[in-house]
Amino acid sequence: MSLLAEALNRIKPSPTIAVSARARELKAAGKDVIGLGAGEPDFDTPDHIKEAAIQAIRDGRTKYTNVDGIPELKEAVAAKFKRENGLDYDVDQISVGTGGKQVLYNALVATLDPGDEVIVPAPYWVSYPDMVLLCQGTPVIVDCPENAGFRLLPDALESAITPKTKWLILNSPNNPTGAGYDRASLKALTDVLMRHPHVHVMTDDMYEHLAYDGFEFVTPAQVEPGLYDRTLTVNGLSKAYAMTGWRIGYAGGPKPLIKAMAKVQSQSTSNPSSVSQHAAVEALNGPQDFIKERGAVFRQRRDLVVAALNQAPGLTCNTPEGAFYVYPSCAGVIGKKTPDGHRIETDDDFVTYLLESVGVAVVQGSAFGKSPYFRISYATSTDQLEDACARIVQACKALD
Ligand SMILES: Cc1ncc(COP(=O)(O)O)c(C=O)c1O
Repeated sequence: MSLLAEALNRIKPSPTIAVSARARELKAAGKDVIGLGAGEPDFDTPDHIKEAAIQAIRDGRTKYTNVDGIPELKEAVAAKFKRENGLDYDVDQISVGTGGKQVLYNALVATLDPGDEVIVPAPYWVSYPDMVLLCQGTPVIVDCPENAGFRLLPDALESAITPKTKWLILNSPNNPTGAGYDRASLKALTDVLMRHPHVHVMTDDMYEHLAYDGFEFVTPAQVEPGLYDRTLTVNGLSKAYAMTGWRIGYAGGPKPLIKAMAKVQSQSTSNPSSVSQHAAVEALNGPQDFIKERGAVFRQRRDLVVAALNQAPGLTCNTPEGAFYVYPSCAGVIGKKTPDGHRIETDDDFVTYLLESVGVAVVQGSAFGKSPYFRISYATSTDQLEDACARIVQACKALD
């Protein structure tokens, strides 16, 4: 009998974490590497949030808390949903977990039976299919073509739905493409869902505040109130508030689901860090202007990266609506030869070539379910981005 569970054979370690680890290793070995693999803002957590955490420690708020969040934080989350999304959630419809990742995972553990299907539009955030597999569910991957802006098309959604479909996972703005659903494109999808009352929506709104050029963020339960009872609206503090290490994510949803998620959490991590929860209250209730200021910097970086990459022979890069990623096509380098005679066959080969020849770490499209592409995270300094893009252009020019 094997010690390791069969379910572990179905999944892989997070490829994005693996790229960051490899870049860190190479750097530690003295190589000149620019890491554009991590999905993490380079900005620091704002001081007023840090101060709230320090105060919480001083006040002795260092004990176990309610399983799925202290009342003050649930109230702050409910107020945020009302203020920013026009959604009414009572505090007992709110769940707080150790990052959006745990919240999503809790929801899947709480709802999936073997063979239940979960529709995952591709390109997808790397964790969705593997989380579904760990929960004995079946991910149903639906391709979102580049010429549709990497957005799920209503017909494709309609054809993917079966009697076994339990969830559709939506993510806008999207990791890895940056694509966002405007009101009309989201409504076209919610119209399909209205015809299939057994399908629920897990919407991952993690990048809500990172949207540019006046793009209006909208979320499914807001666009189609008829879906309110079938929607889990997930969000978190990691990206917009630069709080990746604090590990706080949250969701609003139907009471029975929120209760079931608390049951799961009570038997795994008990509660998110008490100190982080107090910091999160300040983050949600305190000043919000830094988000816009930082957003302006992200937008400049996005424009810089898109312009530079379109100078690289063999690459094409569109301008996405949000997040801090671009997802260029590398179709034009497939079949070319590197200076040392290796043929580039896949996006995996291309990212390996970039890392080894010019020391730029990016993530291959195969990790996100759509090739031949790669993801660049532009959540790093403008100087580093300029340097990295110049290196990528140089690497592409060296191909034959
Ligand atoms: C689309 C998406 N969802 C969820 C998460 C998880 O965020 P966290 O667990 O830090 O809240 C991430 C982080 O990379 C993400 O990109």
